Amino acid sequence: MSTTFTLDSATSRATPTPAPMKRLTAPAILARKTGPEPVAEPVVMLTAYTARMAQLLDPHCDMLLVGDSLGQVIYGLPSTIPVSLEMMCAHGAAVVRGSWHSVVVIDMPFGSYEASPQHAFASAARILKETGAAAVKLEGGEAMAETVAFLVARGIPVVGHVGLTPQAVNMLGGYAARGRSQVEEQKIVRDATSVADAGAFALVIEGVVEPIAARITREVACPTIGIGASAQCDGQVLVIDDMLGMFERTARFVKRYEDLAPRITAAAQAYACEVRSRAFPTAAETYAPK
Ligand code: KIV
Repeated sequence: MSTTFTLDSATSRATPTPAPMKRLTAPAILARKTGPEPVAEPVVMLTAYTARMAQLLDPHCDMLLVGDSLGQVIYGLPSTIPVSLEMMCAHGAAVVRGSWHSVVVIDMPFGSYEASPQHAFASAARILKETGAAAVKLEGGEAMAETVAFLVARGIPVVGHVGLTPQAVNMLGGYAARGRSQVEEQKIVRDATSVADAGAFALVIEGVVEPIAARITREVACPTIGIGASAQCDGQVLVIDDMLGMFERTARFVKRYEDLAPRITAAAQAYACEVRSRAFPTAAETYAPK
């Protein structure tokens, strides 16, 4: 039976190499954490928003995150607040189609889960049904613990997200690192332990000072995945476009593994020049009659 998740290599640009193998699972990620010390094999996560990027990243990752950062990265929106369930489902399905190995996690967008656990279940069920992904991620701590437990009890693996939570930008007043005061530290640690105790199988910690990440990693029973949260976490995640150098400005915690923006600019310039001078296309790029 064909499903919307089947990758049709005859009609798509799909080139799944090496040959597909069994996909990692949420329980397998959780099982990496066996005690308070950092996991033996760090969890590798990157964001992906398209099928082709998923194909390229998948063999190297344990988890692919279809982050609501796609609002800014793909759609040019000012924040993640306007991102819709439709956007997450469309990109989520594309990433599932382009991957065969990683656990695909889809962000629940702002407004799709906060009202009640039942509301969250309806949104999460839609995401899993329409995309074929294995898990959802939602932002928030103590206030979301009941919702996390509700989803997990009903068969939906959940990744938590604490510290700097971008959907709360209007409350936080910006994207600065968090946890510099004692009060903030206590709150972030409480947030992390409540979501982990509620059954999250992994926990993203974003934009916090190092000692908080170390403390949470010691105290929770699931792997922590840091972004701007130091090497003390059990794994790391970055936004793919940031680490590929697609933007001129990035946060301090981003390491650029490539510098693609100038390379794309140069390619576009060369193409434009060749079209205008009629140097492209040449005979090599032209169909000739038999
Ligand atoms: O939306 C996203 O890409 C994220 C990561 C920053 C963790 O939540």
